[in-house]
Amino acid sequence: MNHEPVIEARSATKIYQSTGLSVRAVDQVTISVTAGEFVGLVGPSGSGKTTLLAMLATLLRTTDGNLLIDGQDLGAMTDGQRTMFRREKIGFTFQANNLVPYLTALENVELMLRLNKRNGSLSRGRAKELLTRLGLGDRLGSLPSQLSGGQQQRVAIARSLIHDPSVVLADEPTANLDTERANQVVSIFAELVHEEKRAGIMVTHDLRMCRYVDKVIQMVDGRIERVVTKRADIDLLAGTSGFDRLDRQRSGQVPNHSLHAGLTRPLPISAFVGAD
Ligand SMILES: Nc1ncnc2c1ncn2[C@@H]1O[C@H](COP(=O)(O)OP(=O)(O)OP(=O)(O)O)[C@@H](O)[C@H]1O
Ligand SMILES: [Mg+2]
Repeated sequence: MNHEPVIEARSATKIYQSTGLSVRAVDQVTISVTAGEFVGLVGPSGSGKTTLLAMLATLLRTTDGNLLIDGQDLGAMTDGQRTMFRREKIGFTFQANNLVPYLTALENVELMLRLNKRNGSLSRGRAKELLTRLGLGDRLGSLPSQLSGGQQQRVAIARSLIHDPSVVLADEPTANLDTERANQVVSIFAELVHEEKRAGIMVTHDLRMCRYVDKVIQMVDGRIERVVTKRADIDLLAGTSGFDRLDRQRSGQVPNHSLHAGLTRPLPISAFVGAD
């Protein structure tokens, strides 16, 4: 495996300023993710997970520190360069799936490729293959409104992978899925990250989903609280309801915040395609 980091955050910080209120949403975060590595990002509601993902997706600029993808400093790019970079290198699904309502499942997935002006017939084949792998082979022609929440989420996952990005970012991709379907979707997602050597980060409130990841990063109050890399510790975490059990097993560190359900904050479709 190539151990050069694909994603690198160096003391990345985001401070939101609004009407006299200043929120340090991401506070000096330093992490790295290599090609073929699938990371679970967990932490309480409001701990900065979506903000970190949005910065990595080039949708938000850092206030301080650096973010690099494939060695390129996102902060050094103009807005136009960031849009081009995002279209080519980054795939993402956010808390709301943001499918285009008047396009079918297949067309929603192909959209990313059309933005990148890729070859039509090849892309249609790959879009069909991905959707089929995600269990939607018989729903290619359905509109989002004709699909369940979980099916829509799977279309969004296919869309995030279709253009061969180096980086895949997913914000609670299983929020609308039952446990069985969530397991299926995340295991396929993990396979696709591993096989195709992408660097993947998945935010989840469901620790059970961590069994499919190679590393768990926990955020609390904008900071990295801990990074769990040992397989046995990750499996323990995934098999229990929290970090405190892991802590007890690993001798006496103080347990901390529990995880609870996230808020859904939809992004406009322009977030995906960028301004032309
Ligand atoms: N546009 C914004 N303006 C001001 N503050 C914001 C903005 N977006 C998020 N925040 C604040 O930044 C902090 C981190 O929010 P963020 O959405 O990144 O958390 P999260 O970990 O994704 O939470 P959840 O699990 O609920 O989705 C929170 O305190 C939130 O209220
Ligand atoms: Mg969030």
